[in-house]
Amino acid sequence: MKLKDKIAIVTGAGRGLGKGIALRLAREGCNLMVSDIDIEAVKKAAEEIKTIGREAIFAKTDVSDKSQVEEMVNEAKEKFSRIDILVNNAGVTTVGHITKLTEKEWDRCLDINLKGVFLCTKAVAGIMIEQKNGRIINISSKSGKQGGLWLSAYSASKSGLIGLTQSLALDLAQYGITVNAICPGIVFTPQWDKLIVEYAKKLNIPESEVKSYYVKKIPLGRNATVKDVANVLVFLVSQEADYMTGQAINVTGGQEMR
Ligand SMILES: NC(=O)c1ccc[n+]([C@@H]2O[C@H](COP(=O)([O-])OP(=O)(O)OC[C@H]3O[C@@H](n4cnc5c(N)ncnc54)[C@H](O)[C@@H]3O)[C@@H](O)[C@H]2O)c1
Repeated sequence: MKLKDKIAIVTGAGRGLGKGIALRLAREGCNLMVSDIDIEAVKKAAEEIKTIGREAIFAKTDVSDKSQVEEMVNEAKEKFSRIDILVNNAGVTTVGHITKLTEKEWDRCLDINLKGVFLCTKAVAGIMIEQKNGRIINISSKSGKQGGLWLSAYSASKSGLIGLTQSLALDLAQYGITVNAICPGIVFTPQWDKLIVEYAKKLNIPESEVKSYYVKKIPLGRNATVKDVANVLVFLVSQEADYMTGQAINVTGGQEMR
């Protein structure tokens, strides 16, 4: 166990990458606050963590809502007395050609994917500064490194998140807190199932061909798994990565190299 008795918060932990990351952190020895807008899903995630033998509490939190975020962080601090790791994972993918994308969709995407990270980080920063220690991981995307067709809002949010990561890394370096981003490529999570219809439309191909269309573009010849992403995350929050901050690490099977 690389992270024995560390305290971690994972946002958007009800399913997909967030849930996988939370379970992996638990297996590495963390006790967790798992949060999500989907209370039933995150309650189940907390129960699964407890079966691994770690402590877990959960909260219904919309990361774009300041008071809900503060309440969730306070609850974690009250329960565990400290917060060692924050994983800003909650995010949504907004797909649409610029002529069709509405202002409401743009705002929602930026509010959750970018402002949500600002709010969560702001809420834990004071605690980590007092501890003179902390690890913050922001889940960006390969779309944060390169724009994508019909992905203007998503790509802007994830690219902004890389800038936010670098600036936070500078703000917090003097307190022994590191801030890094992970840029996954394609991970077939529940989010993807919802997107297939949109992607089939934008590529003008049958829905059944969407996944293989994207996988064919990956140099290593397969999609990423939650484990691929969690492996890098565990390294970045461990002592082995003490000297790394402000980085945006690609986990894309070679699709993105910058
Ligand atoms: N799956 C991929 O291919 C991929 C690739 C690159 C980056 N990412 C990023 O990884 C993160 C997780 O994605 P995923 O594929 O697991 O998605 P997902 O949709 O399967 O899971 C996202 C979780 O976030 C929660 N959530 C949504 N809005 C929220 C809000 N306002 N507040 C709190 N929780 C909220 C959802 O309820 C859900 O449980 C996202 O930030 C996404 O952009 C995913």
